[in-house]
Amino acid sequence: MKTYRIPIIAGDGVGPEVIAEGKKVLEAAGDNYGFNIEWKEYPYGAEHYLTTGELIPEDALKELSDYDAIYLGSVGDARVPPGVLERGVLFALRFYFDQYINLRPIRLLEGVETPIRDKGPEDINYVVVRENSEDLYVGIGGRTKRGSVHHEAEVIRNLYNVKFGLDIDSDSDEIAYQVGLISAEGTQRVMQYAFDLAMRRKKHVSSVDKMNAMTDIYGFWREIFTKIAAGYPDVRIDFNLVDAMTMWLVKNPEWFDVVVAPNLFGDIITDLGAMVQGGLGLAPGGNINPKGTSMFEPIHGSAPKYKGLNKVNPIATIWAGAMLLESLGATQAARGVMLAIECNLRARKVRTFDLGGCSTTSEVGTDITRYVKQSY
Ligand code: IPM
Ligand code: MG
Repeated sequence: MKTYRIPIIAGDGVGPEVIAEGKKVLEAAGDNYGFNIEWKEYPYGAEHYLTTGELIPEDALKELSDYDAIYLGSVGDARVPPGVLERGVLFALRFYFDQYINLRPIRLLEGVETPIRDKGPEDINYVVVRENSEDLYVGIGGRTKRGSVHHEAEVIRNLYNVKFGLDIDSDSDEIAYQVGLISAEGTQRVMQYAFDLAMRRKKHVSSVDKMNAMTDIYGFWREIFTKIAAGYPDVRIDFNLVDAMTMWLVKNPEWFDVVVAPNLFGDIITDLGAMVQGGLGLAPGGNINPKGTSMFEPIHGSAPKYKGLNKVNPIATIWAGAMLLESLGATQAARGVMLAIECNLRARKVRTFDLGGCSTTSEVGTDITRYVKQSY
């Protein structure tokens, strides 16, 4: 029997609770579809950082590169200053493994109410391909008071290294700045992925940018999009400014199928998408390197106020588990998990508070596990 080895970083807050349900469902899928799963748990996150001062060490990253896919709960904790765990754990993983695609399906499943009246599962079914390694996320920025300073910074990626030397001469009391960067290689590869995905879906790709205000960076984005699109004459394309996009995604979600977006705008529109598909409890994501180690997670955070209450919806994490199985090539099992989620939702019985129910996290996980075992 085939064995998949899957490392887990359950992380902080509700992470361990939702990951527990994901494990349960994926193990049932293994029983049903003929494979074993060997889990390996890693402790990284707030608790580990607060007791040892360590975020995620280089040797752990090296060890993790032996695997194809990582299952991640969530990181974030009020006892740690904002940004420390995000940069030290989440971005460390995304950037180390060069998971340059953040794939986020926005799909209204049957049995879920969308706050957008009159839109149903046939209207809300698109995928956001979010660039996941560049843009304003490269981590170059600083603050400086009146006077002159020199700031050196660099962006080190598999594809390229970029060094910046900034001479700042300012008579403002204090300034803060953040530098965004997109590269030709980084933009081409994410667009390539989006167009390939579109060929397997409805042959339609929508680009998101803010080219009217930030001409250099997003003008470049559009130029590359246009070049890649030329290689896919059967694919319909359109350009959307991100502000207008937030409007269309609420008013006319049925217009979209594959949406490709730079990192920051992709982050923003997928929280919007999560609401449209019924809430953060139902929104999964994949951090994907098609040729390396990918990582699958619910897009919600660690939700510290619900920690330990067995209360939050595990479906986002279970759905992320289905995406993980799909990435390992266990296509049937992935489909089985999705069907089980859909059975649970359609039955409208065992559901957590966010969907108007009163079941616990583990009851929902158990119910979905039961459906996985029934389907063939
Ligand atoms: C996400 C999150 C992260 C991001 C945060 C936690 C830094 O919002 O995965 O969407 O902005 O990428
Ligand atoms: Mg986000």
